[in-house]
Amino acid sequence: MILSDRIRFVGVNDFRTRLFEHQWPLPFGVSYNSYLVIGEKVALIDTAAASFKDEFLNNIKDEIGDRKVDYLVVNHMEPDHSALQAAVRAEYPECTIVTNAKAVPMIEGYQGLTENILTVKEGETLDLGGITLQFFMVPMVHWPETMVTWCLEENTLFSGDAFGSFRAVKDCVIDSESGTFEEYKDEMTRYYASIVGKYGTPVQNALKKLEGLEIKRICSTHGPVWENSVSQVVGLYDRLSKYEVSHGVCLAYGSMYGNTEKAAQALAKALESRGIPCVLHNLTEEDYSFALRDVFNYDTVILGSPTYNNGIFPPVRQFMQAICDRQVKGRRFLAFGSFTWAAASVKLLNSMAEEGGFVLLGEGVTFKQGFSAEKFDAEALAALV
Ligand code: FEO
Repeated sequence: MILSDRIRFVGVNDFRTRLFEHQWPLPFGVSYNSYLVIGEKVALIDTAAASFKDEFLNNIKDEIGDRKVDYLVVNHMEPDHSALQAAVRAEYPECTIVTNAKAVPMIEGYQGLTENILTVKEGETLDLGGITLQFFMVPMVHWPETMVTWCLEENTLFSGDAFGSFRAVKDCVIDSESGTFEEYKDEMTRYYASIVGKYGTPVQNALKKLEGLEIKRICSTHGPVWENSVSQVVGLYDRLSKYEVSHGVCLAYGSMYGNTEKAAQALAKALESRGIPCVLHNLTEEDYSFALRDVFNYDTVILGSPTYNNGIFPPVRQFMQAICDRQVKGRRFLAFGSFTWAAASVKLLNSMAEEGGFVLLGEGVTFKQGFSAEKFDAEALAALV
């Protein structure tokens, strides 16, 4: 697919994989994006996932016919982008792999390739004849070896996972002026929260490093090519990596027999009546990445959990651990839940929240056995938010 005279999209859409990284649901699919930069020499930027070999190689041939791929630029070694390096080398035996020193042992480890590798350092360039690539290291966005590739003449950033999104791409690939960013924003935030969320500081370092570039086109490895929404996309990543949020509540719960659920629903209603934005997530019915997305959207996390085995109900504990693992900063916290003969869940959630650096808005509410408005004062809890 033509992005410009000198840049082509040769990526693939994946609607078959149920779980990205065997963890994250893909209700709208995902794309593995790869690009050709065409000068007197041809450079291929990254590859795709293993099961797309034939489609991927055909996409390349559709764009360049009998011409050769002279360089394979490796920005990132996670196998959703690196799995077809050996296949590219088999198809184009003379192609030189271009990458940085940290990626070289990974290329051997994953793909068994050791020959004809050109190692580049920060800021170095590669002249393709009429068009130039420049390389910048962005460690931990999202692995330690990650770099991005800048195309000077096209003002195009091949950004790796940065600015990526779940959700497969449309036929046109390029974002439209009328709404693509809004359409992808939720899945981009869920992608960021799930995959990159722990690495806010490295993302900030990368954004600072790249801020001098006059970017006209972002070619990420997942999601649309951004031309019309560059400032919104960069702005969203800036906000997410600073852990900046708006006032509102991610209200997530697990419930065994419906009592904690009734409390969650009563609290959501009380928050709504106060005009406080609130998104309710049932952690036993949906994957926790959807709630994690809203931890990156709102300043307050409220979790509901029954006591289970004298502890936190497992789906809620898993979610709380996922938030803590991402070292999410500056969130406010409340807990509530039910118990039958001994209360433990709220106390344990508060303890995790304190260790994770949350600001507790109160000691929370726990109630015995069946839900009732007398046992659970949703209005009083909502007033703390
Ligand atoms: Fe899309 Fe970190 O790989």
